[in-house]
Order: sequence, then C-alpha cells, then structure tokens
Amino acid sequence: MTNPDLKAVSDGVPVLGLEAKYYNDRELFQRTMEKLFYQNWLLACHSSQVGKTGDFLSLEIFDQDIVITHTREGEIKAFYNVCQHRGHKLVEGIGNRKLLVCPYHAWSYDLEGNLKAAPHSQKVPGFDSAKICLTEIRLQNFLGFIFINLDPDCASMDETYPGIREEMLSLCADVEQRQYAYHHTADEGCNWFVAVENYNECYHCGPCHPSFAKGVIDPASYSIEAYGEIEVLHHTSKPSSSDDAWYDVSGADYGSFFLWPASSIQFYPGGVVNSFSWRPLAVDDVRVYRTFYSNNGEVDETLQKVIDNDRETTFQEDLDIVKEVQRGINSRGYKPGPLVLNPEGGINNEGPIQKLHEWLRAAVD
Ligand code: FES
Ligand SMILES: [Fe+2]
Repeated sequence: MTNPDLKAVSDGVPVLGLEAKYYNDRELFQRTMEKLFYQNWLLACHSSQVGKTGDFLSLEIFDQDIVITHTREGEIKAFYNVCQHRGHKLVEGIGNRKLLVCPYHAWSYDLEGNLKAAPHSQKVPGFDSAKICLTEIRLQNFLGFIFINLDPDCASMDETYPGIREEMLSLCADVEQRQYAYHHTADEGCNWFVAVENYNECYHCGPCHPSFAKGVIDPASYSIEAYGEIEVLHHTSKPSSSDDAWYDVSGADYGSFFLWPASSIQFYPGGVVNSFSWRPLAVDDVRVYRTFYSNNGEVDETLQKVIDNDRETTFQEDLDIVKEVQRGINSRGYKPGPLVLNPEGGINNEGPIQKLHEWLRAAVD
C-alpha cells in the first residue's frame, strides 16, 4: 500500500497547511462544534472527582452546559445542566448534594435526574412530575477517565478507539488505580485547532521546549504516528537519559494518546499519568484543562516537581506560541506553507499535522 505521506514527498509535491478559514471563520467554527464536538467522545473528568454518592461536577462544551453526577446506585451519569422548567442552568461548579435545586423557581432533581419537587405544582391539573427528568448524555468510564458524547447514537469508546485500552494498560498496568490529584486551566487565545495542532507535533520541541526535550523524553527516539486507521495520534519516546531529567524517569516509556478531536491521556516515563482536555470558548479561544493523577490523590514531591516544571516551561511556552500563531493566521499576510513531512518520521516530522487536517476536513468540508 502506498503511504500517501511518502508519495507526496517522493513526487516532490509539497503538502500545504490549511487556509485561514479553518482557524478563524465563525460559520465554519459553528459547523465544527456540531460535527465534531457534539458527536465525539470528549474527556470530561476523572471518576475520582465524582467518587461519592451525591458528588456532582459541571462543565461546558462551548455553549452546552453539562453536569456529571454520582447516583445513589453508585453509577456515574451525565446530563445537560439545564432545568426542565424554563431552562435555567441547574448547578454551578462542583459539590455534593442530595438534590440538585434550580436557583430560579427551586425545582429539585435527584442525582439520577428525576424531578423530585416543583413548588406549587400540585395545584396544576395534569402536572406529572414522574414524567419530568433531566436530559441524559452518553457517558463511559474508560480506565477511570470519564468521557462523554453528546451524540446519543455514538459508537462506544472501544469501538471508536480500538486497541487504545490495551495500549494504555501495557504502558501503565495500574492506571485504573489512579486518582485525580491536581489541575489547572488556561484560556489559550487561539482557535482550538491551533492548540491541538501544536500539541501533536514535536518539530518545535527543539527550538521551543529545551526543558521538556531533556527533562522528560529522549528526542532521538520521539515519534508521533497515527494509530492504524483510527483517529488517534500515538506519541512515543524512550525516557530522557539526560542529567537534566525532571525526576527519576527510569521505568516505563513515555506515551501519549491523542483521541480526536480534543482529549489526550499522557504517560510520562515511570507511569506519571496526566491529561489534556481542550474545550472551545469561541472561534478564537479555547480553554485547556491540564490534569495530573496519583495513586492516592495526593501531590507528592515528584509530582509537584513535574507539575511546576511543566507549567513553567512546556505549558507556558506552548501558550505563548499558540497566541502568536492565531495572530499570524489572522494576518492579511498569512499563506499556508508546506508541511515538513519527513519520510523518516521521528521528532522533526509534521506527518501528524497532515492527519489532523484530513480528519478536520472530513468533518467540516
Ligand atoms: S427554570 Fe428551573 S425552576 Fe424554573
Ligand atoms: Fe509544544
């Protein structure tokens, strides 16, 4: 089978980047939300963040408010976070309650989404509270990570990303024992796709991430490849062998699984589990959730060092980059340039960018 990447290179026909509209057109952005973000699995939180009966956690996927709950039966469920009376947002933030009470007229729901009380409704002929419940959303617990999909007819996580569960377990056999330890967020000031592209190539790691390239990974062995025919990019590397490693990186290799369109579960060497979830705010802004996990939910000295180093170096460096790229794409001088498709793969290769372009265009063109 001819690899299209290699064919393009051998034909001497450069593959160009995308036109600006994919990053800054409002109508195309709206289509992207409908075709991608409302029809694909997205990392919402970790099961340990809603670990007890009554726990709830709210989040937003662009203009859709969602709440995750832990029911009395011990199930984790997801609902649109919207009251079934006249549409007020039901709850804010995170917490633990027996009932979710709407702040507008005080209708209350149990954690299974059933309406339990609606003040004065008993005077209304035919009012049947048993028929009223929150609108449920597909949810899956995938190795402890809670994914949601706004498409009620979607395929399961394992059908969508076959083989990934096994790959993760082979890298970190006890990943399911991990618990949420810490997260921080940033509004990146760019279109979500600028951030996702930037995450999925390490051609910029040499010039932009000297600390990461020594502290975590081994650049000579780093590679990002599509995982078979599915919409996953698999980042792999041996651990850093530098004296500047951030911590004792012996043990399991580095691996990261970018699950199209906007989630990544990442294993730093030795099983330091962390994740990214990108949630668009507007055509030119996206909030990234950067989350770290540990065995007991505590941040120990090593994890603190990883969090601090990442936040001060790689994470901040990427924030600076993506803002400038968005500004550049909006420039009247922007023209899509040729991708660096390196037939040898490795760290200096924009093959994964070409894949992302294919997947985006298949959804929105
Ligand atoms: S909108 Fe929620 S109680 Fe009225
Ligand atoms: Fe980067």
